[in-house]
Amino acid sequence: MCQAVEARLVDCAVLPIENSLGGSIHRNYDLLLRHNLYIVGQVQHAVCYCLLALPGANFEEINRVLSHPQALAQCEHTLTKPFTNKVPVREAVDDTAGAAQMLPPLPARVQQTYIEMNILASDIQDDQDNVTRFLMLAREPIIPRSGKPFKTSIVFSLEEGPGMIFKALAVFAMRDINLTKIESRPSKKRPLCICDDGNGMRSN
Ligand SMILES: *[C@@H]1O[C@H](CO)[C@@H](O)[C@H](O)[C@H]1NC(C)=O
Ligand SMILES: *[C@@H]1O[C@H](CO)[C@@H](O)[C@H](O)[C@H]1NC(C)=O
Repeated sequence: MCQAVEARLVDCAVLPIENSLGGSIHRNYDLLLRHNLYIVGQVQHAVCYCLLALPGANFEEINRVLSHPQALAQCEHTLTKPFTNKVPVREAVDDTAGAAQMLPPLPARVQQTYIEMNILASDIQDDQDNVTRFLMLAREPIIPRSGKPFKTSIVFSLEEGPGMIFKALAVFAMRDINLTKIESRPSKKRPLCICDDGNGMRSN
């Protein structure tokens, strides 16, 4: 995805960076370092799932629910609750939208479309506050307009020494700059250094 932006195949990439339940997506932080792209925006998105059924079908008639295994897992509690008599069989398929196309078409229907399906229930995910933050990446930076608050990401490494992180953070505190997040990643060029602290003990 990042390569596609660099190769000018697309103008912008949207990269998930953090999830409210799962935390930081470290793999994508590392992608930011490996590619020569600029962060030009952010989007926060909450995943909401709906239960779709063929017209006329109601809860009591549902025997099978098809979706991506992740979606089924994220709706597990809700999918087993509304069905009082029986629990429908949950069947894993490749993608959530594709599952809608796999339902057997009604005889009168020429072509199956999503529009022909009814929403039996919406917001059926077990966790109602599962929000993912995405970064928008582009080849060119945007110049922040004055008078408008903006957010900047900075990457740096520190020499070893007492209070180094404290000193680095003081730079922001002295200038009244709010910090929203600090992320620590291993340095690939300088893997864990094993130091002899003089007591014959080794520490990192
Ligand atoms: C929250 O959303 C993310 C991204 O869609 C997903 O990977 C994760 O499994 C979800 N967590 C829960 C507990 O639903
Ligand atoms: C920084 O944080 C303070 C306290 O939450 C807030 O009042 C202020 O508006 C923030 N500044 C910016 C530029 O977001």
